[in-house]
Amino acid sequence: MVLNPATLFTGQQIIWLPACPSTSTEAATLLRENRASEGCVVLTDDQTAGRGQRGNSWESAPGENLTLSVVWRPTFLDAGQQFLLSQAVALGIHDWASALLQPASELKLKWPNDIYFGTQKLGGVLIENSLSGVKIQSSIVGIGLNVNQRHFQVPTATSLAALTGRHFDRIALAERLLEALEKRYLQLRAGQVGELRRAYLAALYRYQETHDYEVAEGRVRGQIVGVEADGRLALEIGGEVRRFGLQEVRYV
Ligand code: BTN
Repeated sequence: MVLNPATLFTGQQIIWLPACPSTSTEAATLLRENRASEGCVVLTDDQTAGRGQRGNSWESAPGENLTLSVVWRPTFLDAGQQFLLSQAVALGIHDWASALLQPASELKLKWPNDIYFGTQKLGGVLIENSLSGVKIQSSIVGIGLNVNQRHFQVPTATSLAALTGRHFDRIALAERLLEALEKRYLQLRAGQVGELRRAYLAALYRYQETHDYEVAEGRVRGQIVGVEADGRLALEIGGEVRRFGLQEVRYV
């Protein structure tokens, strides 16, 4: 597969593997062996042991979807600023999807960085950072997006094809995706964190709406009122704002 994204560095080195267990694991090996240039992308047509958030697996039918990992070195970020990268990546994917689906207002970012259309999941992100002292040394941004797959094990999953009835050219999609990701990454590198935050909240799934959540003490009713700088979700429950990490809250 030949990719020619119009980017400065993201996807200028591309490693395409017909099959592999996980593109993120491959990217980690490349990094360790000093073979990954800035923006290097590992992509596969058949990911056999994809990893997801919360220790879940990521299933993707061979040849149908996008499963890739981007290597960046955001050494300008402190360890405590990891969520800024997560936000930028989520927005890059949101920008990309907004050009493909209508109405774009149905596209939402489910905290921390899943992409949803309505109440269905179109894709997810798994970011693995390596730290050096107080700085981020490198990040492996693993992205799984459902493109041409029509049938899923889980009823909450969807794809571009399922939503539109069309078949998509994955090469063109990958090129546009890398361009959109780099744009947001450059915005982050330029320090435009206020704009990133504003755009993230504008796209946040269930923001300022009342819904049920599962937390340590059981099911509660609450409203997302924001996301902390450290990435924790701020939920207002019974008039009190409480903050939750990824393992501490489940959307019902
Ligand atoms: C999630 O929603 O749980 C995150 C899914 C992330 C999946 C991608 S696919 C490419 C990369 N390689 C992996 O093993 N996982 C990520």
